[in-house]
Amino acid sequence: MTGPESEGSQVRRAVCPGSFDPITNGHLDIISRASRLYDEVYVAVMINKAKKGLFEIDERIDLIGQVTAEYGNVRVEAFHGLLVDFCKQRDIPAIVKGLRAVSDFDYELQMAQMNNGLSGVETLFVPTNPTYSFLSSSLVKEVATWGGDVSHLVPPVVLDALNQRLRQG
Ligand code: PNS
Repeated sequence: MTGPESEGSQVRRAVCPGSFDPITNGHLDIISRASRLYDEVYVAVMINKAKKGLFEIDERIDLIGQVTAEYGNVRVEAFHGLLVDFCKQRDIPAIVKGLRAVSDFDYELQMAQMNNGLSGVETLFVPTNPTYSFLSSSLVKEVATWGGDVSHLVPPVVLDALNQRLRQG
């Protein structure tokens, strides 16, 4: 047998879930820190059929794959449905989330408690690097749409993809 089932509980796994439309330096900061704490980190890109993003799911996965390749232990996958099911299928006991500010906390706490109640999966909160405490994919898209400089907020490959997509209109 290959894959997660064959490795038992020896391999310490965690998941960083999100929409990643597109991945920002704030996301990357959390993923890189998780990758130093765990043997394997899954980046789970949520498929939201009700909301069309700027980037298709495959494009988001491709960008995340490119910017996390250097860590060596990050896998990127799409998911739909419950995050706890994604975790169960891959033997992942921990969700790692960044907390930017107190305003994130209320909803994140509710999700963490719900996920723990559903399946026992734990959520670990990592305080975001203060450099990125105001950063979100939505703001990046808005600023870039109106010609603002976001080059310090996203990796270069994401900046190129963003500029190209926005030029397409
Ligand atoms: O980047 P986002 O959009 O803030 O990420 C939100 C995400 C994907 C982490 C959250 O919506 C989620 O976990 N969705 C999966 C569906 C699910 O499990 N819902 C129950 C959570 S209690």
